[in-house]
Amino acid sequence: LNILCSLLEIINWLLLTVQILFVKMIRVRKTELKKNILILNGPNLNLLGVREPDLYGATSLVQIEKSIKKIADSYNITCEFFQTNHEGLMIDKIHEIILQDKLVDLIIINPAAWTHTSVALRDAILAVKTPFIEVHLSNIHAREDFRHHSYFSDKALGVICGFGAYGYQAALQFAAEFFKKDS
Ligand code: DQA
Repeated sequence: LNILCSLLEIINWLLLTVQILFVKMIRVRKTELKKNILILNGPNLNLLGVREPDLYGATSLVQIEKSIKKIADSYNITCEFFQTNHEGLMIDKIHEIILQDKLVDLIIINPAAWTHTSVALRDAILAVKTPFIEVHLSNIHAREDFRHHSYFSDKALGVICGFGAYGYQAALQFAAEFFKKDS
């Protein structure tokens, strides 16, 4: 009877171990399947909502991020948001993808004024080779001449401009479709 009890105990222990391993495997698989998007915003976009609202709208960046996060959750997509007014910090953020081996499947970027000026930021985004979508709230082609040229558009998956805050949502919706094709 003693031997039988020990045998049952061993079987019980084995079953429990298998169960734990199974749960862990499912968790790993789930995080593998979850896509990650990095949403980058350049200089002065922290002032959205108060900055020239006739051009950029009344919605703040925090509000945009909140609604994007909600939609991303419904797509099972993880979003990380980053805004800076400092070019070097933006470049460092992009480099993290390589240097910290970060899992980023796609970048959505509004480079703001750096769109028209920054070879350094262009080089950084090309260095990491992550596909990206360029977003602008305003229609840059209907504005001053110096805004018509972008250092990013020729390398972007696509460019969305002129639709205000909706542009970020449109980019995310495209990303969800893009990931479907990818998997
Ligand atoms: C912008 C357009 C840029 O020309 C400008 O410098 C910005 C914002 C946009 O979202 O419309 O800061 O990128």
